[in-house]
Amino acid sequence: MSGGSRDWVAAPGRPLRGRIRVPGDKSISHRAVMLGALAEGTTEIHGFLEGEDTRATAAIFEQLGVRIEAPADTDRVVHGVGLHGLRGSGQPLDCGNAGTGMRLLAGVLSGQAFDSALIGDASLSKRPMRRVTEPLALMGARIETGVQGVPPLRIRGGQSLRGIDYALPVASAQVKSALLLAGLYARGPTTIREPHPTRDYTERMLTAFGWPIEYGPGHARLNGGHRLRATRIDVPADFSSAAFFLVAASVVPGSELHIDAVGMNPRRTGLLRALQLMGADIREENPREQGGEPVADLVVRHAALHGIEIPEALVPDMIDEFPALFIAAACADGRTVVRGAAELRVKESDRIATMAAGLRALGVVIEETPDGAVIDGRAGSEVLFDAGGIESHGDHRIAMSFAIAAQLARGEVRIRDTANVATSFPGFEVLAARAGMALQAVSP
Ligand code: S3P
Repeated sequence: MSGGSRDWVAAPGRPLRGRIRVPGDKSISHRAVMLGALAEGTTEIHGFLEGEDTRATAAIFEQLGVRIEAPADTDRVVHGVGLHGLRGSGQPLDCGNAGTGMRLLAGVLSGQAFDSALIGDASLSKRPMRRVTEPLALMGARIETGVQGVPPLRIRGGQSLRGIDYALPVASAQVKSALLLAGLYARGPTTIREPHPTRDYTERMLTAFGWPIEYGPGHARLNGGHRLRATRIDVPADFSSAAFFLVAASVVPGSELHIDAVGMNPRRTGLLRALQLMGADIREENPREQGGEPVADLVVRHAALHGIEIPEALVPDMIDEFPALFIAAACADGRTVVRGAAELRVKESDRIATMAAGLRALGVVIEETPDGAVIDGRAGSEVLFDAGGIESHGDHRIAMSFAIAAQLARGEVRIRDTANVATSFPGFEVLAARAGMALQAVSP
């Protein structure tokens, strides 16, 4: 999706100051397009993430016969075709870099009358899909994966689905959501149980679209055979995008940054709690509701951080934030221990290995474990990070995390393969530079 390659050169800048707003939530934007497409009537989405991942999802629904207008940047109008109104496409459906897009679509497409093929970019083509295809098969879906359970997914239409009662072996909102979306097309109840509660956007949004669903932390249950009714969705700013600025302003001396209207769903804000346990100075101001989601303005000031053992119960609530957390840990006083986070190995890259290699390249002592890492913080050293070169392995969150480390480096840090930052955070460089970070895009 994200055309040619691109590097960043990042270096120490100024303290982070001022007031910023980060783009719309990725998880909510994907789901808003999907449910809007399957609803009856016209759904307006405000604050849509103009990222490559969510645009890929919108393009797929257009390919399946849904008219989607973009009256303004970050607005979409989705002309829903109803649960049975999608039309098959003779062409593969390209999810780009988006695991959420592919896994949730696997659920939706299992219930259609037509066949589909889902493909993705090099990173997505390595990610495990059996976690969705196996339970979907229990519901009666017919899906073939590539060897070893990776994309492409070939989904046979015309199957009659039945609800299941399924306990997820790993906590995954994507798998839960795929099964709930297939459950819309199934006979009987679909019940999902989770080992740890995960983000509940699919459940909240189904409710907003008028589909009866019972849910609470760790479980969800719905029946097939209802209708989705179009609605208006206001997408809050993505906590995962705000996370880079929370860490950057915490670690760069002299910083005081305001981040407006950030989504504060408790299943997403584990990093905030972890940073506060490490001594961060982050305040929530003006807490309110926006489109059924809690939001708040965050004020973050530089603070001296200390290492901690990250409570395992926080892991699912901060699963996308570990690259940023690793940088905070490297800046802290003492040791930080992460356990119970083996899922990091199957994200857009193996985030434990990629972060460990990058931190070592910048002089940090880090020990990798199968499900986490032990990081020795460098607070008190003359400089926190050496200058050097980092491989992001095309992983957006790795690239943005090392841009923070570079703010405290001895010199320039070259971060390779950063084009995929546009999948989740278009305009990161501009916003980061405005806030005070020194960061420049260069051709490799
Ligand atoms: C997401 C769920 C998480 C998260 C991903 C978005 C979602 O993945 O890492 O960025 O929107 O449901 P898993 O379900 O694999 O944990």
